Amino acid sequence: MKHVTVLLDEAIEYLNVNKNGCYIDGTLGGAGHSKKILENLEKGFLYAFDQDDYAISYAKEVLKDFSNYKIIKSNFRYLKTKLNEEGITKIDGLLLDLGMSSFQIDDPTRGFTYLKDAKLDMRMDQSQTLTAEEIVNTYDKDELAKLFFIYGEEKNAYKIANRIIDHRPLKTTMDLVKITDQVNYKEKGHSAKKVFQALRIAVNHELGVLEEVLSQAVEMLNPGGRIVVITFHSLEDRIVKHFFKTESSSSLPKNLPVMIDENIKLKLITKKPHYPTAEEMEVNSRSKSAKMRVAERI
Ligand SMILES: C[S@@+](CC[C@H](N)C(=O)[O-])C[C@H]1O[C@@H](n2cnc3c(N)ncnc32)[C@H](O)[C@@H]1O
Repeated sequence: MKHVTVLLDEAIEYLNVNKNGCYIDGTLGGAGHSKKILENLEKGFLYAFDQDDYAISYAKEVLKDFSNYKIIKSNFRYLKTKLNEEGITKIDGLLLDLGMSSFQIDDPTRGFTYLKDAKLDMRMDQSQTLTAEEIVNTYDKDELAKLFFIYGEEKNAYKIANRIIDHRPLKTTMDLVKITDQVNYKEKGHSAKKVFQALRIAVNHELGVLEEVLSQAVEMLNPGGRIVVITFHSLEDRIVKHFFKTESSSSLPKNLPVMIDENIKLKLITKKPHYPTAEEMEVNSRSKSAKMRVAERI
């Protein structure tokens, strides 16, 4: 299935592209955002990161008419190192459209979806060793329950962890779905939704890498450069919100005489998250959970 880019025009508008600037797309995917950035560049350059081989080969085709870009196959947590290797120390903007592309979710061999039977894999980077199968079969009961509760906000985390221990070894997505179906039979949504979210976050260290890339981006951004982040669940959004708040507020006592707090590095561009329009949500159901936040380096 083709990936339909979420918040395409709004994200690029918020990125405020300077035609001669150096931009980073941290999540290349189907290259919808990257293509739009490139259309706005003249002498500027785009570095696009993705850790997924399929996304990269797909994106190369989408971007075949452009030359002022380079794809870096890497986790975006290595933003600074990878860009330094290219001789880049300063950037004019970073875009992150988190999560996965539709073609990753829908690929039955990857194990991301609870709707199809597959090996319990869930790695975005196929060269990584940790898989969902290893987590469900080796973590102890408390570790599993904590993971489902914290990363999935799953209220039946302990019950599910218990059953997993009793039914080991689990090999496939449906082995896990059978268990969540037994426990979450009263759930309105899919019984495995929260558990799958939790496992995906853990397998791919999704929250940790987000914190890492945001800190590196703030250090590398030129004044006026922006960070645009699109998130798809509350845990990611909380990290972005908290990071932007910390970097945009003063830690100095309020009653000091007027002075500039050198520690304030960002200005909030979106005070509240920006959501897709009702029209976009209707045509692209994946956009329903999207929230975009934007901040600018000062
Ligand atoms: C939602 S898609 C991006 C879609 C893209 N903006 C578009 O317009 O088509 C997210 C992509 O980011 C990649 N990705 C997610 N986390 C990553 C990370 N930590 N490092 C590198 N790539 C990542 C995924 O492999 C996926 O291809």
